Amino acid sequence: MEPGGVEVTDLDAGEGGIGSALAGDEPSPPPPSGARGATPAASAVGLTKVYGKGNTRVIALDHVDVAFGAGRLTAIMGPSGSGKSTLLHCMAGLDTVTAGEVRIGDTLISELSDRELTLMRRKRLGFIFQSFNLVPTLTARENIELPLLLGGNRPDQSWEHEVVDTLALDERLTHRPDELSGGQQQRVAVARALVSRPDIIFADEPTGNLDSRSGDEVLGFLRRAVDEWHQTVVMVTHDARAASFADIVIFLRDGHIVDRIESPTADLVLDRIRALEV
Ligand SMILES: Nc1ncnc2c1ncn2[C@@H]1O[C@H](COP(=O)(O)OP(=O)(O)OP(=O)(O)O)[C@@H](O)[C@H]1O
Ligand SMILES: [Mg+2]
Repeated sequence: MEPGGVEVTDLDAGEGGIGSALAGDEPSPPPPSGARGATPAASAVGLTKVYGKGNTRVIALDHVDVAFGAGRLTAIMGPSGSGKSTLLHCMAGLDTVTAGEVRIGDTLISELSDRELTLMRRKRLGFIFQSFNLVPTLTARENIELPLLLGGNRPDQSWEHEVVDTLALDERLTHRPDELSGGQQQRVAVARALVSRPDIIFADEPTGNLDSRSGDEVLGFLRRAVDEWHQTVVMVTHDARAASFADIVIFLRDGHIVDRIESPTADLVLDRIRALEV
């Protein structure tokens, strides 16, 4: 593991998967038998992403090593432009990498054909985009069900109802995105990512447009996805309180992982943000 790399392993998964994570430089006890997450849910080695050329060249990610343990909620923090969205997009196979390797479980995604990658994304990954990416001509319900329908699957009605109910979208299902507020669009984007019960949910500022009550509901839902349904969540946030819902927080700056906190509280996260000036 490169300096600055972070390993987030799931070695204490017995009680809902909220375990202590171990940095690469700490001694590693053997995982308990039957522990989930011996293989990280997603990982990258030497992940480098360069945009543009010449004067416009930007190194968005610079040799990032990271492993997201299965059954854990990881928050990614860092200043604007530090590479958070790029990291999420590269991990989910939504963007190509300039160098390095990205794996979902054991699968090296660069070795997949476009079709295999699309199928894997549909079956195993949910993505909540910073900019929502809703289809403007479809209603909220159609947007929510779209990934399932594309995959040829029928929505599980009771599960969809629970998702829609928790996100308070019942009254808005027949509206198109331009008829919804920013917060409502964000909740539709969250529902779309959750409704197929993916193994991994990548969430880019999922509470960025929500008031604190709606934000807490979304965060509580992501927390339940991990604790009750054993999904893995990787969430970008600027909000220390949102980060406190996570099991671990990693901090990005200038395309590098510069720090991490386990079992974060909002105060710990704020202290670390000040210390790092991220
Ligand atoms: N498509 C692109 N073309 C060129 N540069 C890009 C592109 N996407 C991102 N960048 C650059 O890469 C860097 C990292 O961007 P990224 O969107 O990952 O940041 P971020 O940490 O998510 O920021 P924010 O908190 O504002 O969302 C920035 O300097 C950005 O300008
Ligand atoms: Mg971003």
